[in-house]
Amino acid sequence: MTKSLVGAILAVALAAAASPPGPVYIDPLLYNDVGANYTKWRNSSAIGFNPTNTAPPFIQVFDRSFLNITGPSATIRKIASNPGFAFAHEAPIYVQDLNLVIFASARGGALGYSGWYNNSVVSMINMTEVDMALASTTGDVNIQVQTLNLSDDVQMLNGATGPYKGDLLFVTAGRALLPPSVVRVNPSPPYNTTVILDNFLGRQFNSLDDIKILPGTDIMFFTDPPYGWLGGFRPEPMLPSQVYRFDPSTGQVRVIADQFVLPNGIAFAPNGKTAFITDTGIYGGLLGTNQTFPATIYQFDVDPTTQSFTNRRVFAYTDSGTPDGIHLDTNGNVYSGCGDGIHVWNDEGTLIGKFFLNSTASDLIFTKSGLVILEGTAMKDHGSAKS
Ligand SMILES: *[C@@H]1O[C@H](CO)[C@@H](O)[C@H](O)[C@H]1NC(C)=O
Ligand SMILES: *[C@@H]1O[C@H](CO)[C@@H](O)[C@H](O)[C@H]1NC(C)=O
Ligand SMILES: *[C@@H]1O[C@H](CO)[C@@H](O)[C@H](O)[C@H]1NC(C)=O
Ligand SMILES: *[C@@H]1O[C@H](CO)[C@@H](O)[C@H](O)[C@H]1NC(C)=O
Ligand SMILES: *[C@@H]1O[C@H](CO)[C@@H](O)[C@H](O)[C@H]1NC(C)=O
Ligand SMILES: *[C@@H]1O[C@H](CO)[C@@H](O)[C@H](O)[C@H]1NC(C)=O
Ligand SMILES: *[C@@H]1O[C@H](CO)[C@@H](O)[C@H](O)[C@H]1NC(C)=O
Ligand SMILES: *[C@@H]1O[C@H](CO)[C@@H](O)[C@H](O)[C@H]1NC(C)=O
Ligand SMILES: *[C@@H]1O[C@H](CO)[C@@H](O)[C@H](O)[C@H]1NC(C)=O
Repeated sequence: MTKSLVGAILAVALAAAASPPGPVYIDPLLYNDVGANYTKWRNSSAIGFNPTNTAPPFIQVFDRSFLNITGPSATIRKIASNPGFAFAHEAPIYVQDLNLVIFASARGGALGYSGWYNNSVVSMINMTEVDMALASTTGDVNIQVQTLNLSDDVQMLNGATGPYKGDLLFVTAGRALLPPSVVRVNPSPPYNTTVILDNFLGRQFNSLDDIKILPGTDIMFFTDPPYGWLGGFRPEPMLPSQVYRFDPSTGQVRVIADQFVLPNGIAFAPNGKTAFITDTGIYGGLLGTNQTFPATIYQFDVDPTTQSFTNRRVFAYTDSGTPDGIHLDTNGNVYSGCGDGIHVWNDEGTLIGKFFLNSTASDLIFTKSGLVILEGTAMKDHGSAKS
């Protein structure tokens, strides 16, 4: 769930939702042959695909099965915003018991290893308050988010999952010489923290990005791209861009997949048999964007014995931006934050719809109140997605 490079932070402008339109069907057959004189050719993946000109945000349906997920009258509504600060960018967790969504900002600002970055800000929003506010109007609302004040040894939170044994589970990208880490955080006051891993046999990770637990186990899997270095707040990478497996009961850490440019989001199918890694390779940070690099979700089999990731194949390549945070619903549909909103593929890798914002969505989380979308400077709620 990174993409939190300078350009991406500035790019997350908010398109306000006045009276949101319902789902709009876009028949792919109508756009298979547009001809050389088409006025909407996209020569950059930063430009969204919006052939019907419907005002965003709205729901794009590329396959009618998507309506089974959204329902016929779903809408996208803004629930919190903070223009000018990408407060809603990373590491969303839904704590069902407390009905809270906890998440982190993008990493922007003046302090840090190179003097460019401040620590990330961790926030929470009370979904009970969101529900009450949404019920009182048909438009957008703006709920107060609270800042969590975590211990100083937990900085640059970038990915999350949980609750894990009652705690929030985060990975941090580290900051300057403070090592990247896997951290448990108490979801209730005083929000105390315990770092459970900060090295690979004495070597610092590059900048951990995202983490998930393999369903049915307590085993943690996380990604380690060099975004901290590309972003100017970590030393030069000293490990390849890999995916690791960590068994907290034995302390054993091992690499279970490599050959990525910038491995980012991670997710498992509900049955734990397949894994998904997003590669945000086109965002080279200070090296610039290069559209010939991956914006790709890779799928793997999870070896039932070793839990290594095998049989790598392309699951999907996104037409817009790059897939960032990734989550599956209980039916195996795959959701990922991309350059123009949240894209949804069925379990075969067919794009069936988008929650189209016309701006970058970095991540999402399923809650009792629907799908909550992190859009950098704003958070959105989509009323009726199943989880
Ligand atoms: C495209 O536009 C040019 C210039 O107006 C015209 O000559 C040509 O016939 C058009 N091509 C098509 C396929 O419409
Ligand atoms: C991309 O398209 C825009 C608008 O049509 C044009 O201004 C720009 O020069 C094009 N860029 C490239 C690299 O072709
Ligand atoms: C929607 O779901 C129902 C029930 O599972 C199924 O029968 C129907 O075929 C689905 N519709 C589409 C368009 O996939
Ligand atoms: C970064 O921290 C400095 C010093 O606390 C503060 O002045 C600045 O506003 C911060 N920047 C951001 C983007 O939060
Ligand atoms: C969330 O808000 C509701 C309604 O105001 C309140 O009853 C509840 O205690 C809040 N939850 C937390 C964890 O603060
Ligand atoms: C975090 O600290 C700020 C500033 O001291 C305070 O306003 C805020 O209430 C604290 N957050 C929580 C959840 O206690
Ligand atoms: C928080 O502190 C309590 C009381 O000391 C302890 O039982 C708990 O394990 C701590 N949780 C974390 C995540 O550090
Ligand atoms: C993009 O990457 C390719 C392959 O490395 C390289 O050939 C090309 O010059 C790069 N393009 C830009 C614009 O940097
Ligand atoms: C989408 O955003 C782009 C800027 O990224 C803007 O030029 C365009 O008008 C927007 N499209 C719609 C339909 O709002």
